[in-house]
Amino acid sequence: MTAVETHPHDVLVVGAGGAGLRAAIEAAAAGASVGLVCKSLLGKAHTVMAEGGIAAALAHVAGDDKWQVHFRDTLVGGKLLNDPRMAEIHAKEAPDRVRELERWGAVFDRTRDGRILQRPFGGHTHPRLAHVGDRTGLEMIRTLQDRAVTAGVTVHMECTITRLLTDAGRVIGAFGYWRADGRPVVFPAASVVLATGGIGRAYEITSNSWEYSGDGHALAYMAGAELIDMEFVQFHPTGMVWPPGVRGLLVTEAVRGEGGILRNSQGERFMWKYLPEDRRAEYAETDEEADRWVEALTEGRQTDARRPPELSTRDNVARAIYTEVREGRGTRHGGVFLDISYLPAARVRQKLPSMYEQFRELADVDITQTPMEVGPTMHYMMGGVRVDAETCATTTPGLFAAGEVAGGMHGANRLGGNSLSDLLVFGQRAGAAAAAAADVRPPGRDVPQAQVGQATAELEEPFDVASVEDPNRIHEELKATMQALVGIFRTAADLDAALSRIEELRVRSRNARAEGPRSFNAGWDLVFELRNMLLVSEAIARAALARTESRGAHSRLDHPTAEGIWEGRRTVVSPAGPTMRIETTPVAPLPDELQALVAQG
Ligand code: FUM
Repeated sequence: MTAVETHPHDVLVVGAGGAGLRAAIEAAAAGASVGLVCKSLLGKAHTVMAEGGIAAALAHVAGDDKWQVHFRDTLVGGKLLNDPRMAEIHAKEAPDRVRELERWGAVFDRTRDGRILQRPFGGHTHPRLAHVGDRTGLEMIRTLQDRAVTAGVTVHMECTITRLLTDAGRVIGAFGYWRADGRPVVFPAASVVLATGGIGRAYEITSNSWEYSGDGHALAYMAGAELIDMEFVQFHPTGMVWPPGVRGLLVTEAVRGEGGILRNSQGERFMWKYLPEDRRAEYAETDEEADRWVEALTEGRQTDARRPPELSTRDNVARAIYTEVREGRGTRHGGVFLDISYLPAARVRQKLPSMYEQFRELADVDITQTPMEVGPTMHYMMGGVRVDAETCATTTPGLFAAGEVAGGMHGANRLGGNSLSDLLVFGQRAGAAAAAAADVRPPGRDVPQAQVGQATAELEEPFDVASVEDPNRIHEELKATMQALVGIFRTAADLDAALSRIEELRVRSRNARAEGPRSFNAGWDLVFELRNMLLVSEAIARAALARTESRGAHSRLDHPTAEGIWEGRRTVVSPAGPTMRIETTPVAPLPDELQALVAQG
């Protein structure tokens, strides 16, 4: 066999978004030689699309904010299915990670007395999101990328990983190919950190970028790791609905955080109807009270007015918008109106510069004058690779996971802004643990030739298949299936139908053919991404079918309420030979002092 290009590292990080960069920085700081692989160019990470801010109890705007309140909000938002230790670590460490980012050069918006400014978001008791206008993710990536390069991290760009390499069940590296010319490449490593983000490309309408094809979820599963909470798929309430070419593009929650009002086509402020009874007391009672809250926010002062109904949690707002449209009160393009035009134009342009440009450029709408049309868009995967809270170690030795690809932190529904803080907190921990593991067990120099041979042959298969299927066509059909049958509202009949369809598409995908050269061949790339998306889609549909209740982002029309038997239980998906095993496991119990915090809420 011809020798395959090889780049050994102590720690290999797959994915160069916020979690991957933060992990790489930490591992390099611990003295490890670190390789960072990304499908795209460095700096083009999906994290850039996270606009509204980083949630951290810095208490710069609300003096009485503290990690305990952030912890409680996160658990209430996640319907108590969050891994409690992850949520505790996250709430405690997020402020330090934000301050560190500032020390490394991130330029945040400022309070009048010069501290990092924080804005309100849905489900957060206090204004808590440290932000840079509505370009927070961009500033974060810019800062982390500079830091990683200076720290000596070796970046391998435009490289797709198709397999993890194992030895006796332990991950010892990764195999992939260069997208520029199709050459195979091997990365032997003592530890591998997955930071590949989400799965949005399995859905028709998504805010996610092209990289998000569930690669890390699938790579981990194929290497024997467990996935948890896969039924919990977050639909962000506000994506663009028009023009068609940009349907799903994110309209940041910061619009509502800054006072944006949702109305249906009859002009009704409909969120009043959808506030959950048990949380009603947290929201304003009247338009006047909501107006007072916005006024105080605009003037930068504290108020006793409660937050507007638009700042309910995302699961709730997405269901409300979907219901308004389904019941015939939607706009011409199948959305609802989101209005910020009643605020001074200069303030809108200052607080939401990207939204102002996005709507002007793409929809010819001036949001300082006219309401936006918005609707739900698949945004975030709460489910992911099962990890240890302290170290981000997966259930497969040698393999770590951080950020969206990891499950557990957000339970049944993530609060906005908790993703960027999650990336920083657990990216740092994964990097440290992966470097420590590499210290104990340096990378082997021998790559498993049989696995490399198999992975190389697998790369060639799409050029050699006998009967021919178009991978793009299969992808279109998968997206339509997931959108229609595994969306915001689900039923057993739909999920069964989705599983049959996914199986049929999987069989067809074995004959998916790549045409043309190896250089930047999107059809060829798609064959491997399809394998991953089909695997992840099956896991979502199976977990959704198993959970016979409604909780957080998982809504079953045939089981419309939360059920006692599912209280504190999460689903686990794992490989059992060629089939997918679904089991349930209890969430770790809350220690008494944390239990008391949640009870106070
Ligand atoms: O709406 C947003 O700006 C998205 C933020 C997030 O998902 O955390």
